[in-house]
Amino acid sequence: MKIFLDTANLDEIRKGVEWGIVDGVTTNPTLIAREKAPFKERVKEICQLVKGPVSAEVTALDWKGMVEEAKELAKIDEHVVIKIPLTPDGIRAIKALSYEGIKTNATLVFSPMQAILAAKAGATYVSPFIGRVDDVSSDGLKMLEEIVIIFNNYAFDTEIIAASIRHPMHVVEAALMGVDIATMPFTVLEKLFKHPLTDIGIERFMKDWEEYRKIMGGE
Ligand code: E4P
Repeated sequence: MKIFLDTANLDEIRKGVEWGIVDGVTTNPTLIAREKAPFKERVKEICQLVKGPVSAEVTALDWKGMVEEAKELAKIDEHVVIKIPLTPDGIRAIKALSYEGIKTNATLVFSPMQAILAAKAGATYVSPFIGRVDDVSSDGLKMLEEIVIIFNNYAFDTEIIAASIRHPMHVVEAALMGVDIATMPFTVLEKLFKHPLTDIGIERFMKDWEEYRKIMGGE
């Protein structure tokens, strides 16, 4: 399973990359706005850090505008993937961009049917939003599981990115389903490390080691 960070914050990306476990980054207009940095420059900086797929989202709502914006964004770096919302215009733009060999990530996906449309249009990635489905009292993981089954049934090439991840169990459940990628906030990535028995274990080993050193005369 590949791990993407869902952030436009350079410090967070740098830390994740230094750990050696971050394969890519997803951004969206909200995440970019939070950083108060120039959009294209920030996308370039992220690409230089992660050297893997970096999703940058278009803000045009008509397909021609989306395609124009996508072409500009794709010039920033070879790793840029164009994030496009799942609307009729979005699907048309994805189809046009896939003909031109520009990588796309169909975003704001909330149902298996929407995911099928993205795959048929030739999207490189599709991003079902688990957490936001849970937020409206529905079952985000069930939606994700159905998408995985359908994509396996038809051997679609489109990779599935489990998105809108809120906690480590979302990641575990996605991994059990064999989802290609999980994109998560930095706070969730940090939580993946945590286990109280690891902390207790380190404390006990250190204490025993100190005792041993005392007995052995500082050796
Ligand atoms: C995905 O690419 C989106 O940027 C993201 O996962 C949205 O998550 P949110 O529901 O936490 O905003």
